[in-house]
Amino acid sequence: MIRKIGRNDPCWCGSGRKYKACHQASDDRIALASSRGHIVPTRDIIKNEEQIAAIRESCKINIAVLDYIGEHIHEGMNTAEIDRIVYEMTTDMGGVPAPLHLEGYPYSVCTSVNDQVCHGFPSEHVILKEGDIINVDASTNLNGYFSDSSRMYCIGDVTPEKRRLVEVTKECVERGLAEVKPWGYLGDMGQAVHDHAFANGYTIVREIGGHGVGLKFHEEPWVGYNTKRGQEMLLVPGMIFTIEPMVNMGRVEIYVDPENDWEVYTEDGLPSAQWEIMVLVTRTGHEVLCW
Ligand code: MF3
Ligand code: CO
Repeated sequence: MIRKIGRNDPCWCGSGRKYKACHQASDDRIALASSRGHIVPTRDIIKNEEQIAAIRESCKINIAVLDYIGEHIHEGMNTAEIDRIVYEMTTDMGGVPAPLHLEGYPYSVCTSVNDQVCHGFPSEHVILKEGDIINVDASTNLNGYFSDSSRMYCIGDVTPEKRRLVEVTKECVERGLAEVKPWGYLGDMGQAVHDHAFANGYTIVREIGGHGVGLKFHEEPWVGYNTKRGQEMLLVPGMIFTIEPMVNMGRVEIYVDPENDWEVYTEDGLPSAQWEIMVLVTRTGHEVLCW
């Protein structure tokens, strides 16, 4: 039997505050949305202030790593060097690269070049050359708190077509972000991302999406972009998730390398771009925690 929390009992979130002064009003709104048939978050993905503070520390490492990569990435560099930098910086700062050994993933970071959509393996044999576009996707575990973000880097002179893909993909994330607010829906974000890509003649990979993050690397909800305004999960203060669309210049279909079951490519061989940010739903709107 589940006993209902009394108004004066300590809140379930662990804040130490009374329920009525903490999550009671939020829970009432969630219950109402649920009774109307909406998907709503479970308590385990709603973070308290203490947890958010610890996640922020993890994000600091992830941001520092991607800043450093941005300053040092260059033509002629191989992507195994990026893997080494990510491993060394993350561990020097007290963290552990979250991808390492995750479901057998053998590296500290994903480096996806040109027509690679995601999960590109760093390699001594992948040498960056002028005109390449590359996504570096880093994730950190600091004391059991997770951060995850990725950026695109252009190597030297890149064709206008590729540069536009990179820029529009970033705009897609920004359009989605603008829709993130408490008591809105995840589909508000997804539709904004999708509409902007579509308006620019691009497609968005359907099979791989973003995710809740913070207390685990991958949490609920799954974050897709082929979603509609007013649908998908209700957004509640304390939720943290990634926005990370993979935008293809050409067709939407992807191909997974059967040799390793990890590396994902566009089927038509045209370039793909991705930016990933981590966003917190606040009481008044949102806050970007990691980029
Ligand atoms: N950073 C990727 C994500 O957003 C996951 C890469 S870790 C891997 O979810 F192990 F799956 F490669
Ligand atoms: Co992610």
